[in-house]
Amino acid sequence: MSKRSAVAALAAGAMVVVLTACGSGGGGSADKGSGGNSPGGKLVVGFSQVGAESGWRTANTKSVQESAKKAGIELKFSDAQQKQENQIKAIRSFIQQKVDVIAFSPVVESGWDTVLKEAKDAHIPVVLTDRAVDSKDESLYASFLGSDFVEEGRAAGDWLVKEYAAGSGEVNIVQLEGTTGSAPANDRKSGFADAVKGQPKFKIVASQTGDFTRAKGKEVMQAFLKSQPKIDVLYAHNDDMALGAIQAIEEAGKKPGTDIKIVSVDGVKDALTAMSQGKINFDVECNPLLGDQLMDLVKKVKAGEQVPRRIKTEEGTFTPEQAAAALPNRQY
Ligand code: AHR
Repeated sequence: MSKRSAVAALAAGAMVVVLTACGSGGGGSADKGSGGNSPGGKLVVGFSQVGAESGWRTANTKSVQESAKKAGIELKFSDAQQKQENQIKAIRSFIQQKVDVIAFSPVVESGWDTVLKEAKDAHIPVVLTDRAVDSKDESLYASFLGSDFVEEGRAAGDWLVKEYAAGSGEVNIVQLEGTTGSAPANDRKSGFADAVKGQPKFKIVASQTGDFTRAKGKEVMQAFLKSQPKIDVLYAHNDDMALGAIQAIEEAGKKPGTDIKIVSVDGVKDALTAMSQGKINFDVECNPLLGDQLMDLVKKVKAGEQVPRRIKTEEGTFTPEQAAAALPNRQY
């Protein structure tokens, strides 16, 4: 079997649900002219999303779909349900359909070289959005658009250092990690550790994945509350896990934000609401509204323009007062 038919067979066998944001369209010719590959001459982008694990993710999906529509781009959208094998199948399916550009947010950092090489051999450029891959071969993707997760972790740690600056005793921290092997989990962990290192009073007494979901965040926090005699601080790698943990803390008869201080990442509306109620003490923003920038980027990549290898998202942080002020205009 030729390499091409092997790829086609794999893609055909894949259980990939591909939805189109702007009408049907599909395969089309291999012509890579400026009009794109769809019968209507639209640019066709295959987008493999991580899943629907969090409020952040829902906002990101909406942003990408709306921006594609606005830009007149045909988006083939595939939800990987937090599974790398689903993303690999989706990318192979996009290759088989000869999309113009593939954009994806990799669920984990490792293990992408083979499929990215297949895209490269098919002359289909790839753009990474939100999360990075750890590939050494930079020719496998054109650009990476997203946040600096190490900085986010560092900002969370810096807040803690200031909060406990005035001669406190030992500070016991529990950490709810994101999806194991994902860029935000790896980087938010290392950025935070970096900010508190050299200060022995900060002790991470327990650290476990909550897979970026509310349900898992609650479950793991319940276990932390049972196993840890003294918890001063919860550091959650995203808001959904923090919100699940708040439920566990309240059910255990403790006051979130007071008995246990909480620092989290994302800045979604539900978390800002919890902050305004005193239940989260500090939140580091991670901006999910990447759609417009992504569409701009894929157009440039398709047109063969020079694009930056790395485009960082602008974001800030929230104290409870800033959260209360931002709430009325928060879109997600
Ligand atoms: O990759 C971004 C992270 O993924 C967000 O912080 C989190 O909420 C999501 O699941």
